[in-house]
Amino acid sequence: MLVLGVETSCDETAVSVVKGAKVLSNAVSSSVHLHAKYGGVIPEIASRFHTEYIYSVFEEALERAGKKEKEMALVAFTEAPGLPGSLLVGAAFARALGYALKVPVVGVDHVKAHAVSAFLDMENFGGLEKEFPFLSMVISGGHTNIYICRAMDDFELIGRTLDDAVGEAYDKVSKIMGLGYPGGPIIEQAASSYKRTDEIKFPRAFMGEEGGLDFSFSGIKTAVMYHWRDSDKSEEETKRVAFSFQEAVAETISRKIDRAIMKTGLNRMAFGGGVMNNDLIRKRIIDVCNRHAVEVLIPEKKYCGDNAAMVALLGGETFLSRRQTGMLDVGGMEFGCGV
Ligand code: KG4
Ligand code: ZN
Repeated sequence: MLVLGVETSCDETAVSVVKGAKVLSNAVSSSVHLHAKYGGVIPEIASRFHTEYIYSVFEEALERAGKKEKEMALVAFTEAPGLPGSLLVGAAFARALGYALKVPVVGVDHVKAHAVSAFLDMENFGGLEKEFPFLSMVISGGHTNIYICRAMDDFELIGRTLDDAVGEAYDKVSKIMGLGYPGGPIIEQAASSYKRTDEIKFPRAFMGEEGGLDFSFSGIKTAVMYHWRDSDKSEEETKRVAFSFQEAVAETISRKIDRAIMKTGLNRMAFGGGVMNNDLIRKRIIDVCNRHAVEVLIPEKKYCGDNAAMVALLGGETFLSRRQTGMLDVGGMEFGCGV
């Protein structure tokens, strides 16, 4: 079954053609360069960009997949969460396309799409139903969530951030230091050339009682702000702060993964989200999972940030599972899956 995915929740306009978990095309056009000078995403600019580019991104996705629109059996789009004006563009496009092609349209949860993105392009993929149960952690600009994924309709949220998401903390720290947007790749780059000699011990928020799986990153951000204010702001100090910030974040994430594994006893853990582009975080995650002999599933970097392939995968799998369980009337009608 060929599924066309549409993603417009933030500043990436993305369309993808997916068959099972096999990605036939993954077209992404980003408006990030238009937001850079403001230090964050401007919703009106993002939605205007989606409106302007969605059709050409759609054409590109079909062309790269070598498929015709008539061959699509289902259209999946990001329903929530995201910027309302941006979501509206993708939803309207997906609904219009589904109506024209007379195929079902399914709305999916963007964060849960990240949670299953590690299965994209997996060899011998036989459907998500066969992969449950597993733990999944989404580390992005808007979310830091840990789920127990038991079934298509059973993703239990067992940990989340109480304030900033990890990517958001990267972006804000970068802004405080005047380094630009998005902060993740910039901070990673600055940290990579620091020769570890004098780490600043920024606070790690392990959130009290043993076993807690929630996160808080606003304290690290504030600590960086005060440190930076009183520093000499030299190039060397920039690298040292970036390095120390990353160490604090990576240690906090590792500790929570450790707890989640011990608490649930699950032996597989998937990861997703834009922050998974970060090599240090990828390495620390692999280390902690290896220590517990837990199988670790990490997406290729092209599927970490926002993309429509993960939306198509979750939409397709939801459609199949609901059809099988009789929860769905498939007469070419739209259904919001709310997963
Ligand atoms: O998943 P994503 O593309 O969008 C959301 O759903 O939020 O994640 C974007 C976030 C941004 O905050 C960005 O700074 C962060 O991912 N990010 C990184 C890296 N690349 C992107 N964070 C740390 N290291 C990176 N290399
Ligand atoms: Zn995302």
